[in-house]
Parts: sequence; structure tokens; C-alpha cells
Amino acid sequence: MLMTDIICKKRDGEALTKEEIGFFVKGYVSGEIPDYQASALCMAIYFRGMNDDEILDLTLAMMNSGETVDLSGIEGIKADKHSTGGVGDKTSLVLCPMAAAAGLKIAKMSGRGLGHTGGTIDKLESFPGFTVEISEERFLENVNRIGISIIGQSKNLVPADKKLYALRDVTGTVPSVPLIVSSIMSKKLASGGDIIVLDVKCGSGSFMKTKEEAEALAKQLVRVGKAAGKKTAAVITDMDEPLGNAVGNALEVKEAIAVLKGEKKGDLYELCMTLGSLMLVSAEKAASLEDARKMLEKTISDGSALEKLALMVEAQGGDSRYVYDESMLPAAKYTLEVLAPMSGYVKHIEADDIGLASMHLGGGRATKEDTIDLSVGIIINRKVGDYAAKGESIATIHADDMNRARAAAEAVLRAYEFSEEKTEREPLIKEIIQ
Ligand code: URA
Repeated sequence: MLMTDIICKKRDGEALTKEEIGFFVKGYVSGEIPDYQASALCMAIYFRGMNDDEILDLTLAMMNSGETVDLSGIEGIKADKHSTGGVGDKTSLVLCPMAAAAGLKIAKMSGRGLGHTGGTIDKLESFPGFTVEISEERFLENVNRIGISIIGQSKNLVPADKKLYALRDVTGTVPSVPLIVSSIMSKKLASGGDIIVLDVKCGSGSFMKTKEEAEALAKQLVRVGKAAGKKTAAVITDMDEPLGNAVGNALEVKEAIAVLKGEKKGDLYELCMTLGSLMLVSAEKAASLEDARKMLEKTISDGSALEKLALMVEAQGGDSRYVYDESMLPAAKYTLEVLAPMSGYVKHIEADDIGLASMHLGGGRATKEDTIDLSVGIIINRKVGDYAAKGESIATIHADDMNRARAAAEAVLRAYEFSEEKTEREPLIKEIIQ
């Protein structure tokens, strides 16, 4: 088999066989196929697409490119969730403890933040001492004992995706449905969960800018999950503004704790209820989405979800006092208010730009090697549809340096669009695909 023939076949719009896809994945991971040929194939896939069989074959070949996690030692139903990435997305911090408190087993591998989006692991490291570097044995033991553990992705999980994603990132081939589906689902399938719930973001702050694009992606994700024998569901959710109010690591942890304490509702709470309900119904722990929601609400009102977070933090070396008293979490030296330039309604908040402003404050990484400042970030005080009188605070910058704070305030102001007329917020949950 020749890689050149495979590239030409896809360039001409033909479907690749399972053997050809396997040849490419194996050869690329081993280094026999060079980056320039892999780039050409990714670009051909970007323009020509892939049929259902090709997408499944690519996903499975990638999944089998490295180690897979065996969760069979964990009793009960193992549930996993994945978000296609957004700004202010601290869903896992709320959803995973709630789902664990409702009786599911959460053995989750999460990532670090890069660019304008954050990562669950960085956020969890706001708890002093918390580590994701635990042995597989301790990971499984923790999940069996307390129902929840979140760790970093193991080094040998889907090496094909590590190489391919880095290549796609620099060759303009990230936003391709077959490539996104195989990237996400190869990792989810290799992580060993029984149930997979996917949060597919749609809007200016995500890869999929329109509902149609998000729907095409969500349908393929669910199809591939089911074809691989997993119960899979997807929710298409709005990312036309940041999720919740906080953007930045410790600030997001504080917001998640407020939701778990029952002190805060809103879009983040609603999203976690929707994703969690789908998990419980898929696991047959609840007969309907309504029943599932009641179960989840109880985990908040009786404090059991918050307790799960505390147990996980402690089991992974952290200090659980910070869960109960979030004022102990890292806090920035300075705050600066961003004031409304006119009286009116917020029409739009460019989520990417808020994420980038937080990154420039030191809250995110421009490159994988950067270290981050857990305390800094932005609180969104006015969301889409809210009214602000001229001079009222629309956002608060949390910074360790006043010059950076001023630059962030200017960037945040540019991310806001106002209107004199009342504006409506897009529905948060656009569609559920089961
Ligand atoms: N997230 C992933 O893991 N892979 C993609 O290709 C896009 C988003």
C-alpha cells in the first residue's frame, strides 16, 4: 500500500477502506508516514469528508493506536461526559459530583486548557495539594470507594490523536466533522466508560458556529458511540456567550461550588441538570428525564454532591476545607470593574474574546509549556439579554497586575455588543440527540 495512493483516492472523493485507514494510522504513529503526507490526507478529508463506515474505521483505528483503560474492576455503571470545548465551561466540576452522588461511577480523564478554553484539571488544581498524577490502581480504588475520580489523560491513550491533533492545529484542519468525531470518540472509547454524554457547543465560542454544523457533529458522535456498543447521547448547547459567570480557574471553581451548595442557578445549573438527567436515564437509574432531574436536585439540597467533590479532593491529596469555604481558594490581588458604555441591553458577548482576555491575564496557556495563574480571570456581571445602565459594571477583572487588568478590561469591553432594544438570549439547550 502506498500513502500517495491513499491521499489521491481521498482527494478525488473516493471512500477509503478499513485497511487503508488502518495503514495510515499505524504508519503515522510509528513515524513511517511523514507529517507532510498526513497533512495532505487531513486536508483531503476536510474537503471531501468521509462516509459513516470510514468515520467508524478511523475512530477504531485511532482508539487501538495505544493503551485502552480497563474499568471492569469498578463495580456499577461507569459514566463519562465530554464537552467540545467552550469558555467558562466548568460543567464537569458540578456534573461529576452530582452524578456520583446519584449513584453513577465517574472515572474520568480530563484535559488541561489551551488557548481561549480552560481545562478541568487546571481548575481542580486550585485546591492546594490536589494531584491528577495518581496510579491507575489508586484511581480505580478511589472510584470504587467514593464513586468519583478525575485524572489527566494517560500518556499512552490514543497516541494517534496526540500527533494528529497537533498537526491539525497548525494545518487548518481542526473544524472537520470526521476528524473531530474520530478524535473525540477514539479517546472516549479508549477511556472505558459504559455511558457517554456529549455536550456539543454551538455558537461564536465554539468550533461549530451554526446549529446545522453542531447537529451534524452531534449525530455522528452519537452514531459512532452506539456503533461501538456504548450508550451515547449528545446535547447541543449554546456557546454564544461564556457559560455561567466566571472565566478563570479558581473563579470557576468558586462558581461550581456555589451551584453545588444550592446558592446559584442559571445556565450552568440547567446544563448540568440536562446532561446529568441523560446519564441517569441511560444508566436506567431513572425512568424519565423528570425523575432523573429530581434525583439530581436532591444531591444538591442534601449536600451529597458537594460532599462527593470534597471526598474526591481529599482522595487526591487536596485540602477539602477549601470545598466548604471557597473564600480560602486563590484570589487575585486586584479587581477592576468594566463599565457599560451606554444604557441598554447586552446583545452579544464574543465568548472567544473573553477566553483570550482571561488567557492574557495569565489564566490560560498560549503554549503547552506556559504556567498559569489560578487566581486571575473575569466575572461576567451582565449576560446576553440583561440590562445595564451607563456606568454600571458589566464585568469584573481579577488580576495580579494593574496593567494587565486594564488591557483585559478593554478587551472585555470590545467583546460586548449592546442594543437599545430588549434582546433575547438564545435557548441554552438547542437539541438533545439520543
Ligand atoms: N476536541 C477534541 O478532542 N478533538 C477535536 O478534534 C476537537 C475538539
